Amino acid sequence: MTRLSRILLIAFALIFAAQANAQQPAAPDWQPQLHFSAPPNWINDPNGPIFLNGQYHLFFQLNPFGDQWGHMSWGHAVSADLLQWKVLPVALREENGVAIFSGSTVEDRDNTSGLCAPAGQKSPGCMVAIYTGNSQEKQTQNIAYSTDAGTTWTKFAGNPVIDLGLKAFRDPKVFWHAASSSWVMVVALPNDHKVRFYRSANLRQWQAAGEFGPSGAVAGEWECPDLFELPVRDYNGNYQENRWVLSVNVSAGGPNGGSADQYFVGMFDGSRFNLDHPDSGTHWADWGKDFYASTSFSNLAPDHDRLWIAWMDNWQYAAKLPSLPGRGEMTVPRALSLRQPPTHPAPTPGQEPLALVQKPVLSVAAHQKYRAMFGAPQYQTIEEANARLAKGKAPGRVFELRFELDPGEAAEAGLRLRRSSNEPNERALEETIVGIDTEKGQIFVDRTRSGKTDWSPEFPARMTAPMRHSQAQTTRFDIVVDENSVEVFAEDGETVLSSLIFPSAGSTGVDFYMTPVPPGSEPARVRDFEVFPLGK
Ligand code: FRU
Repeated sequence: MTRLSRILLIAFALIFAAQANAQQPAAPDWQPQLHFSAPPNWINDPNGPIFLNGQYHLFFQLNPFGDQWGHMSWGHAVSADLLQWKVLPVALREENGVAIFSGSTVEDRDNTSGLCAPAGQKSPGCMVAIYTGNSQEKQTQNIAYSTDAGTTWTKFAGNPVIDLGLKAFRDPKVFWHAASSSWVMVVALPNDHKVRFYRSANLRQWQAAGEFGPSGAVAGEWECPDLFELPVRDYNGNYQENRWVLSVNVSAGGPNGGSADQYFVGMFDGSRFNLDHPDSGTHWADWGKDFYASTSFSNLAPDHDRLWIAWMDNWQYAAKLPSLPGRGEMTVPRALSLRQPPTHPAPTPGQEPLALVQKPVLSVAAHQKYRAMFGAPQYQTIEEANARLAKGKAPGRVFELRFELDPGEAAEAGLRLRRSSNEPNERALEETIVGIDTEKGQIFVDRTRSGKTDWSPEFPARMTAPMRHSQAQTTRFDIVVDENSVEVFAEDGETVLSSLIFPSAGSTGVDFYMTPVPPGSEPARVRDFEVFPLGK
């Protein structure tokens, strides 16, 4: 080919490519602004989140080569505020047919492992990762260490550190148990619906201790356990005591279908976990369909709230998710505590007396940057509240909204968001509904008409959660809305529903609603509502 014909060929190719591009319809913008994702790749479970030297580190299940599950490795990202994340090079890669499955990290300050520094020397800032090595034959527990804040890693030459020859044995979470001066690992035996506790002085040699399970939900495999102590507060926020929470993710059989996270409340003595109320049924951390593989940050200051984060997705349909591009994202991080019921010590019959309370941490970080658009401390009717909403600046596609809702005698009342219409009285083709069903005593998120829903039969759903305080008149809501998700913290953080949605970019209507009440009965009322526009 002559030089001229080569130039012409390239010019034609460029013109053709530009035209093809111009004909492409604009891609809907579902790339989250408040939530961690790693386009164009696939991600699932968060792994080993840790606070170290003033930064939050997040590792995560990553396919470095594509947007479907495979070649599992640990991706790595850092953040100063839990809101803006910077993706860094892959931390731990699949090697010799051994994939890096989920696990945790700790700071081995005292060089207990002997891997971080010469013997006898301390090693502040040294990270040790404890992860499952997954091969065709088996799953084993392994360690790796990093002395440069997670940038480069060395796999321990003596791996695996626990090898039972089992095909299903995974997701080690390790923490320092101060009361017994020992490292403790909680790890899942997925098909037995059990977790096992191991103890170690040096992160290399592990002794089996107690086991817990089967208990609660056992329809799916048990995965990604976590174990931590939380403060218990009474209804006025006063500290009472500490209890332990054992969180166990279950791959199927969740409250609204698919994978979900259950928790147990009790005491842990370093070897055994004793459940406070063995017959109290299953307790779901999150009733939405998109909360899985939760794991808490390690190494936060002892007086800091415990924070956890989860994969905002469901194994039922994760592989089919519309591309962002890329697939998978995390929930907002949440601060955790336990709360007594108002009538403590008498529990509501059949219910765990202590409620796991979750608050989006985003609000702490973001609200320093964004001011409330308007607030309304007095009770207002739905119409008044909507008039007020319409008068303010539109919250856009990404926002947080807090309010207290008294459903009155309405059968149903709540908030409709990401609507394709801005007119409260108009039926919208697209909307996501968050509300209280007073007849059933439920909080719900209805995404059956939330936008693009046809990509999986498991996706369109009305997700429901039983109210913990159905007798209460009012319910506090904190709702976080991003480009493609809604996280609802109802009953002041006791009842949580996390849900992906795929609305059109133009659907930004938001309003309160109630089903009609007969004349003379109490209408729904809204109070103390604040809107925080958080989008770019
Ligand atoms: C949970 C899980 C873990 C496993 C990882 C593999 O979502 O199945 O049990 O370690 O994903 O990616």
